Amino acid sequence: SRYSRITGTGSHLPPRRVTNADLATELAARGVETSDDWIVERTGIRARHFAAPDVTSSDLGAHAARQALEAAGRQPSDIDLIIVATSTPDMVFPSAACILQNKLGMAGCPAFDVQAVCSGFVYALTVADAMIRTGSATRALVIGAEVFSRILDFEDRTTCVLFGDGAGAVVLEASDTPGILASDLHADGKHVGILCVPGTVAGGQVLGTPFLKMDGQAVFKLAVGVLESAARATLAKAGRTEADIDWLIPHQANIRIMQGTAKKLKLPMDKLVVTVDQHGNTSAASIPLALDAAVRGGKIKKGDTLMLEGVGGGFTWGAVLLDF
Ligand code: ACO
Repeated sequence: SRYSRITGTGSHLPPRRVTNADLATELAARGVETSDDWIVERTGIRARHFAAPDVTSSDLGAHAARQALEAAGRQPSDIDLIIVATSTPDMVFPSAACILQNKLGMAGCPAFDVQAVCSGFVYALTVADAMIRTGSATRALVIGAEVFSRILDFEDRTTCVLFGDGAGAVVLEASDTPGILASDLHADGKHVGILCVPGTVAGGQVLGTPFLKMDGQAVFKLAVGVLESAARATLAKAGRTEADIDWLIPHQANIRIMQGTAKKLKLPMDKLVVTVDQHGNTSAASIPLALDAAVRGGKIKKGDTLMLEGVGGGFTWGAVLLDF
């Protein structure tokens, strides 16, 4: 049998770190009131990074990809597939993946974006795994890269305090042993309205609002339930149980959603990888950023069993169980 396995991880944060206090000061200048206390208590977020205006998702993603390649002991020329999960691509087209491919000095291998908002990385990892198992690819770069600061309405305190910019990447290689054990993906488009950027480009103009809109409480209620069901379905497919999970790496949106999920899975909180406090919600980048932080921080060791879980706009959700 042919499986896929992560052989290297990497990540990148733009240098400008904005604490809650910094953001509260910036917002106050616009007449928008918030506080470190409110943000920490409701979300667990303490700081996020914002990219400079000329820095794109493919820039952040290329930095993360180079780190992942180095960790895997691979060169760009060893890679035969690039998938970038993003909702904030550099352009309408071509894909951020094509632009990133060129930045890495590569040409020829397939490269495309996956758009599943905050579930993007688990979607992209599942697609790459399927392509490797069927022999369409042998060594893939799977990247989550976002500049959500571009789509935040800094007049809307209910959303602009939640998100940040960044990128994470993995090298996923064909292997005789798993690797990725199982995955479970879902979408339900009837929930479009609770989390979206409704604008589009047409007739030489932006039509509709180009800013993120969210019904936070509706998202919260949906998220905990679907994350539990995706995790259980993935464990069942792999013939494993909650007790086999060494590390839970959920999408880093809100500490309360993450703790709620861990509780439903009866996992102790010390098995939860948390970076939302330092990164905010980086959408498709949040899971590979958290994974890389936990690997480089010495928490995650080779052979550990990881449950990755995403949920986001669409609504989309899903989980991937893997042996690291
Ligand atoms: N600072 C200060 N006060 C605020 C802020 C702010 N930044 N934002 C809202 N408030 C106020 C509101 O105006 C409201 O005031 P009022 O009672 O006078 O009307 C009060 O705080 C409570 O607002 P709620 O919206 O009820 O607050 P809630 O406890 O629901 O927390 C939050 C809001 C944090 C958005 C929460 O609903 C949440 O986390 N939802 C999930 C969001 C999420 O995780 N989204 C991402 C998942 S998918 C993805 O990643 C794309």
